[in-house]
Amino acid sequence: MDTQVVIIGGGPSGLLLSQLLNRAGVDTVVLERSTRAHVLARIRAGILEWGTVQLLRDAGVGARMDRKGLPHDGAYFTDSDLMVHVDFKDLTGKQVMVYGQTDVTRDLYDAQDALGTTIHHQVSDVTIHDLDQAMSAVEFTKDGKPQRITCAYVAGCDGFHGVSREAIPANKRKSFERVYPFGWLGILSETPPVNDELIYANSDDGFALASMRNANLVRYYVQVPLTDTVADWSDERFWSTFRKRIPVQAAARLITGPSIEKSIAPLRSFVSEPLRWGNLFLVGDAAHIVPPTGAKGLNLAVSDVHYLYQALIPALRSGDLAGLDGYSDHALSRIWKAMRFSWQMTTMLHRFDGEDAFAAQMRRATLSHLAQSETARRDLAENYVGLPF
Ligand code: APR
Ligand code: PHB
Repeated sequence: MDTQVVIIGGGPSGLLLSQLLNRAGVDTVVLERSTRAHVLARIRAGILEWGTVQLLRDAGVGARMDRKGLPHDGAYFTDSDLMVHVDFKDLTGKQVMVYGQTDVTRDLYDAQDALGTTIHHQVSDVTIHDLDQAMSAVEFTKDGKPQRITCAYVAGCDGFHGVSREAIPANKRKSFERVYPFGWLGILSETPPVNDELIYANSDDGFALASMRNANLVRYYVQVPLTDTVADWSDERFWSTFRKRIPVQAAARLITGPSIEKSIAPLRSFVSEPLRWGNLFLVGDAAHIVPPTGAKGLNLAVSDVHYLYQALIPALRSGDLAGLDGYSDHALSRIWKAMRFSWQMTTMLHRFDGEDAFAAQMRRATLSHLAQSETARRDLAENYVGLPF
């Protein structure tokens, strides 16, 4: 056998799994389609649940996060000018960490370099073989040459557009999907945050989110029709739309500036079951996608990695397969709860084109209830900071 675990995909899921396994003495090979520079150029979300923070520390990649990340005690959920503060720390005893996924990925690459793990970039034609045999194999092309690596297990960490999920026979897979009729236009701008905590804003004009990366870098979003392109959105149009959608108290403090990045992402909920087929285990976006409204994408990938790593160690050390046998059900139980929360947050905060007046009243009543009920705020807080692993 060439290696113990082949990990397909060098995004946050694949890198964190490789990091945890190598630190436990397990030999891995990571296969990534793109260059490292390309992986590190992707701007993704920026909120880490406390369990994610702890696991990154345990994996030896917490130092820069602890220096540069911003622990937040709460966030605002607003409806026009009504601002509801949800105090996560007070309600759950936990905070969240504002620290970009791009930074997490860079920290993981640096830690992998320090451990001297094997990561092949710019591989193509990845195919997976013999998943029902004692020893499996992954074939790919690197520098124009065909390669084959044999292994005990394969981790499919290759994102929504990867090949791993398709290695499970179509008649053994079931998928669940909801595509939302809007996207998020996001910008990065080197300006001070409009508020010290995040603002998730519902308005008659649609959703807006005020997030941040540091004291002089903001990440702001507005809900846009799926038919829009970045070319439709000048900086001026972005700022006037954003200003209109956040509460007046916050808008009065808004400092605008040029955008340094601008992109549109569609919103989707997707789950593929099961997460295991023979020696193959799916992790992260390869198996599920959430709309970003609950800030769960990266955090769910991290909890999958946690379950799989904890199951692979006894399997490889002593042939104890109980954890691997339970991985799919165990991970899916948490995944579905995050799906529910992300769908609920999306429904609570977005205007759906062609909706009736009743729908807008439901959103208003949900936010008004949140303002009045500590029970409702605690429920939101418990989900936002992350259900236990
Ligand atoms: N062969 C090798 N690598 C592949 C292949 C393939 N056939 N297909 C995709 N990849 C690589 C991609 O280039 C990417 O770097 O797999 C990686 C998957 O990374 P992500 O899409 O970031 O998925 P994941 O690591 O599960 O991270 C989940 O990222 O997409 C966000 O919202 C998501 O925050 C969540 C997190
Ligand atoms: C982000 O900072 O990019 C971000 C924060 C919270 C979300 C989504 C994205 O819910």
